[in-house]
Amino acid sequence: MTPAKKTGFMSKLRNFINGEWVESSATHFVPNRNPANREEVLCESPQSTAEETSEAIAAARNAFPAWKETPAPKRGRILFQAMKLLQERAEDLASTLTKEEGKTLKDSRGEVQRAINVLEFCAGEGRKLRGATIPSELPRTLIYTVREPLGVVGLITPWNFPVAIPVWKIAPALVSGNTVVFKPAELTPLCAVRLMEIFHEAGVPPGVLNLVLGTGRIVGHTIVNDARVNAISFTGSNEVGCGIYEQGSQRGIRVQCEMGGKNPIVILEDADLDLAVEGVIQGGFGSTGQRCTAASRVVVHESVAEQVIESFKSRAARIRIGDGMNSNSDMGPLVDETQLHRVLEYIEIGKNEGANLLCGGNRLLQSPFDKGFFVEPTLFDRVDVSMRIAREEIFGPVVSILRAKNFEQAVEFANAVPFGLSASVYTQDIARAMQFVELAEVGKVHINSSTIGGEAQAPFGGTKATGIGPREQGLEAFEFYTEIKTVYLDYTGQKRSTSFY
Ligand code: UN1
Repeated sequence: MTPAKKTGFMSKLRNFINGEWVESSATHFVPNRNPANREEVLCESPQSTAEETSEAIAAARNAFPAWKETPAPKRGRILFQAMKLLQERAEDLASTLTKEEGKTLKDSRGEVQRAINVLEFCAGEGRKLRGATIPSELPRTLIYTVREPLGVVGLITPWNFPVAIPVWKIAPALVSGNTVVFKPAELTPLCAVRLMEIFHEAGVPPGVLNLVLGTGRIVGHTIVNDARVNAISFTGSNEVGCGIYEQGSQRGIRVQCEMGGKNPIVILEDADLDLAVEGVIQGGFGSTGQRCTAASRVVVHESVAEQVIESFKSRAARIRIGDGMNSNSDMGPLVDETQLHRVLEYIEIGKNEGANLLCGGNRLLQSPFDKGFFVEPTLFDRVDVSMRIAREEIFGPVVSILRAKNFEQAVEFANAVPFGLSASVYTQDIARAMQFVELAEVGKVHINSSTIGGEAQAPFGGTKATGIGPREQGLEAFEFYTEIKTVYLDYTGQKRSTSFY
């Protein structure tokens, strides 16, 4: 192999189809800019064509029978190898992530570690992939189930976790015996290319995992509507996810969507307030608030509201904004100009709705911040449940404070949104914590910790408008990527008199 074929990284990124790095025939290439300094162009990424996407789907379809036949423990071993390569390249990949997406190096390292954990968990699952044995009413009859792959799965992923989210879809898809066509977000193609290099070197056979770079309008649309694609797993906005679900359901295929959040942190009057404030800072401003699990709402008992607010303000003022590559930075830029305008617009909406802007609210325009998309950590007080800033996902460092009269009202406020991903409660009272667990309309509850994060072996996902289909990660991930086949084995060797139900 020539060096050029070993890598997808050229100044112009390449697609990875059928085990080869192929130059796109795209007429348009998009500059991939560092959000901390938009003058720095990392590379250019193709807006691939529908034909190229179709070639990737064909490669995945052709590779499917042999991959399905490959014993699951062997498939798992390849992922284990990918995990080792990812460990070796963790630091490099974390830097790439920070330069491409903007989050701090500390956050990027955490994300890469999460991907390593997912690979470790899923690789081990190759030796399990259990079905069940089920007792029969009939003598000498064995009923059992086996898990079978779906076929070709399309994976469409967002820019905010460009390493962990692709891995938590690719790993269970591959271990289950599916082949994959992967379309990453347009803003983070380089992390996707680096991941493909790892899977390729780890020994994933040609055609089993394919990467097509480009737009949702062309590449995504082609994947979702191609009859050779048997399932789609998507993470991203509600608007796009619901469209994908609609198109996929018309073809009768399996669709999994992980979408928006508007996650509350509830602080009761007996909470450890320092701990709670730290949870809001991490959850609200970590990853610059660009996280579907971000703590974008704080519901605080009115008797401790003033104290909590004073503490937030002083803690938020100490957040050091800057290039994520700088080890002193606590919060990096927003990912791009569109995101910047969206966040600034929501700040205006909040002011116009009559919420009380406590701190932040501005873009940083002095040098060197003017070259990037930096916004101050922003806190609004006296937010009402009906306000747009309390209901809509902003995806930026903007936190809304709602004051509740009592526990019941706090729960009511916490649930008063269309989304249902994550919720936290801070209290010392175990009975009320457990009541909150029962009443919270979400897929994930934290007691005395922030709304963000999750471990590889535990299911992740949301209710209400947040999620469609089974949970991701944990053993539950395999529910989506496998079909159950039920087998009745009759070993009487004789005609039976029993009638069938
Ligand atoms: C996390 O908070 O640990 O798109 C991950 C997102 C989520 C992932 C959040 N699907 O932000």
